[in-house]
Amino acid sequence: MIKIIEAELGQAYLCQKILQLLPEWFGIEAAVTHYINEIDKLPTFLAWKEKQVVGFLSIKQHTEFADEIYVMAVHPQFHRQGIGYQLVEVAEKNLRKQVIEYLQVKTLGASRPNFHYAQTRAFYQSIGFKPLEEFLELWQGNPCVQMVKSL
Ligand SMILES: CC(C)(COP(=O)(O)OP(=O)(O)OC[C@H]1O[C@@H](n2cnc3c(N)ncnc32)[C@H](O)[C@@H]1OP(=O)(O)O)[C@@H](O)C(=O)NCCC(=O)NCCS
Repeated sequence: MIKIIEAELGQAYLCQKILQLLPEWFGIEAAVTHYINEIDKLPTFLAWKEKQVVGFLSIKQHTEFADEIYVMAVHPQFHRQGIGYQLVEVAEKNLRKQVIEYLQVKTLGASRPNFHYAQTRAFYQSIGFKPLEEFLELWQGNPCVQMVKSL
């Protein structure tokens, strides 16, 4: 049984281990440090299975209409069990209450073939995100696709 807890700040210490268990996605030390700093400052939903944190999702608000899934991850032992879906569902419900209309996420673009990030994009597409534009300059050395969903 998975329980999703309402978003709180200061949750990085509970999320750090999950990032470290996913080197195929979070293998660059500087990027991980950046994410850990950001997670701590952003509202972060946690997925608990009994006493273990098995996933998280951090939300960043950009405008009065639009938020971003800044970073999310599920413990690798629990992939494909609906936890990512549940995290996004709870976050979206929360955002709709705040009358937020658009949700975006940025991830590695398809122009850089990568087995693992192809799975990430498949996940986002399966839950209703559509690729809007790929940016070649936004991230140093990596294409970034912006995916968007209307809430
Ligand atoms: C992306 C991630 C958060 C998805 O979480 P998850 O709990 O494994 O995903 P779910 O079980 O909720 O999947 C929901 C649907 O997404 C799609 N999906 C999920 N993983 C997929 C994969 N590896 N390949 C293809 N489709 C996939 C499927 O349609 C799935 O439904 P189904 O299992 O009934 O077919 C998780 O795999 C993860 O942590 N990945 C590594 C880090 C990452 O990519 N973070 C996000 C970008 S920074």
